Amino acid sequence: MSVFVEGLFAGKTAFFTGGTSGIGLGIAERFAELGARVVLVGRNEEKMTAAVEGLLRRGLRASGHACDVRQYAAIEEALMQSHGEYGPLDFVFAGAAGNFPAAVTGMSANGFKAVIDIDVLGTFNTYRAAYAFLRKPGAVLVSISANHAHQPMAMQAHVCAAKAGVELLTHTLALEWGGEGVRAVCVTPGPIDGTEGMRRLAPSEEARRRVCEASPLGRMGTVREVADLAVFLCSDAAGYITGATFRVDGGGSAGG
Ligand code: COA
Repeated sequence: MSVFVEGLFAGKTAFFTGGTSGIGLGIAERFAELGARVVLVGRNEEKMTAAVEGLLRRGLRASGHACDVRQYAAIEEALMQSHGEYGPLDFVFAGAAGNFPAAVTGMSANGFKAVIDIDVLGTFNTYRAAYAFLRKPGAVLVSISANHAHQPMAMQAHVCAAKAGVELLTHTLALEWGGEGVRAVCVTPGPIDGTEGMRRLAPSEEARRRVCEASPLGRMGTVREVADLAVFLCSDAAGYITGATFRVDGGGSAGG
């Protein structure tokens, strides 16, 4: 059962980078179920088309664009097309992210840069280009971060640096755009089952077991649990919340 009322986001438009799979798609689906028109952006055209068709088949309102968030002109074009179709944006999700496990000595400068570019530059490009199309007042920006932003992790220096950058960038926008009625928040999922991130970081049953054991709740989270936090943060119930980060990690970060 959901605590959120049907039609909560009727008449609203939500734009998602990294929206064609995993957490991004799960949040988009939930927003569409609650009445929003959703725009999915991803690098892979086939994945994007399949994700959009999946939502349309369920009678939900969705469209999509294949583009790389590292290319400012491409993301700006996607936003212009979204505006032509649905009008001003109520919610913008910056969820496009890169990750691979590698020690600093096992990573080239280009490998480090690839993740910084997708996460930090991609988030900047998305919000910078979206600024002209935001509903003001009322728009909400939501960045999908990770515990990496607050805690150093071996084999993840590139992601730690990138997620810390994403969070400070997002919180700075809360300051710069707050006067125009735009809120900006970060959501920090812990280990979420069924995502590409978990497939990469915990590829074996043994690794999955260790991840669950490290969680105070003894399990991984679900995409739906992340989506429910995002719904709350975009609802009027969160009207005085901005410039803040919210964890949905089963308490995994509580022990450091
Ligand atoms: N270990 C070390 N270096 C790696 C690596 C690994 N496992 N995987 C990629 N790299 C390096 C490449 O060698 C390359 O560096 P080089 O040119 O010096 O050889 C650099 O990263 C860029 O790789 P490339 O495959 O050309 O980049 P891309 O832009 O196509 O892909 C990545 C970006 C590397 C982040 C890729 O992992 C990706 O596409 N990720 C998106 C999906 C994802 O990570 N989802 C999970 C999010 S939590």
